[in-house]
Amino acid sequence: MAEADTRQIEPEAPAYPMQRTCPYQPPEGYEQLREQGPLARVTLFDGRTAWVVAGNTEGRALLPDPRLSVDVRNPDFPLMAPRIEAQRQRATPLIGVDDPEHARQRRMSIPGFGIRRINALRPEIEKIADTLIDNMMAKGSSANLVTDFALPLPSKAICLLLGIPYEDHDYFAERSRHVLSSSGDEQAAQAQQAFGDILKYLYDLIGEREADPRDGLLDELITQRLLEGAVDRNELAMIATVLLVSGHETTANMIGISVLTLLEHPEQLAALRADPELMPGAVDELFRFTSIGDTLPRVATEDIEVGGQLIKAGDGVIVSNMLMNRDPSAFENADQLDIRRAAGRHVAFGFGIHQCIGQNLARAEMEIALNRLFSRLPNLRLAIPASEVQVKPAFVLQGVEDLPVTW
Ligand code: HEM
Repeated sequence: MAEADTRQIEPEAPAYPMQRTCPYQPPEGYEQLREQGPLARVTLFDGRTAWVVAGNTEGRALLPDPRLSVDVRNPDFPLMAPRIEAQRQRATPLIGVDDPEHARQRRMSIPGFGIRRINALRPEIEKIADTLIDNMMAKGSSANLVTDFALPLPSKAICLLLGIPYEDHDYFAERSRHVLSSSGDEQAAQAQQAFGDILKYLYDLIGEREADPRDGLLDELITQRLLEGAVDRNELAMIATVLLVSGHETTANMIGISVLTLLEHPEQLAALRADPELMPGAVDELFRFTSIGDTLPRVATEDIEVGGQLIKAGDGVIVSNMLMNRDPSAFENADQLDIRRAAGRHVAFGFGIHQCIGQNLARAEMEIALNRLFSRLPNLRLAIPASEVQVKPAFVLQGVEDLPVTW
């Protein structure tokens, strides 16, 4: 910490992260950051400064660069919220470890998320979506789309993929929410506790399944990795916890924010309804446009020159995928939602070695969720003015707190 404390605080570096006012639009201060160039200076809550990467080209060069580390135990790592301080004693598997450890964990986990396996799950995910819509319709003509649909759908889907008992999904959904979305000091303990609860549950479940394997991804990892000695029970429980938590809040936030975005762009929604073949491209465009996993923090372990700037060893670097995805040099009319555009080159799932492992699953869930919702509820609309929809605090994931809808 000593080196960081002696650095000069730059008064012109605005506070970061910045709060969105509209859930699917960049925060107001982002224009100012972009004007500073492909790399801008910001000040974090603890007074330290860091680089924010706004340029698409520069972000694509930096994210795969091995001189940038994701290890939060590095004392120079840029902290985005006070609660991360409490989590610094252990590195989160996959997302929080560098190669070669990361590569080993990723090789182990990735077969579970391949396109063929995810496609085979589609009929089950469709059934989950339809049952949730049946339940919403049975209750009347209004619902909170977040709790009645957007959260339970991915929660059930990730349980199905991992082979974790369905009946426990409420337990994970609530705790995953604490792990990924709370930002304040007072919530740090809650987040730690929630992570610990899920970890303990999975540790015990792995023990049971060692003796009595079934047919989910967790069981495969037990029979193909754990019993062969490639991983121990503790590390496997940690990896499974990361997969389970990441599988919940991400898509849940994405479904809520995408429904809102489409309802607020009725001409785009009408085009999508008229031609469901547009769905896969529309989903990618929604990922680009909303960029819900906006801030990807790293620390430089060596000096790096990029975009005419020198990032010094020890500097914090935060790659903003919202700024990269709205960079006008990478996307024409970048601030417009256009479901027909070729949005495939977006970086909403990151880029480089940490690129999202769950993206096939997320895309399948999104396509199914939007397809089922808009075809079964043709009059779906907001039950409150869009300006009253509460935005989640700027932290790991962007989303809406609740989404009252009617049909
Ligand atoms: C709406 C959907 C999602 C979005 C926007 C999203 C976004 C991201 C982003 C931006 C990263 C890279 C982070 C970085 O470089 O620091 C990432 C990594 C990751 N995501 Fe996702 N994600 C989504 C869904 C999922 C799902 C459904 C899973 C299911 C398990 C998942 C699991 C992971 C994991 C394990 C990593 C770390 C991979 C690694 O470090 O090798 N994500 N995700």
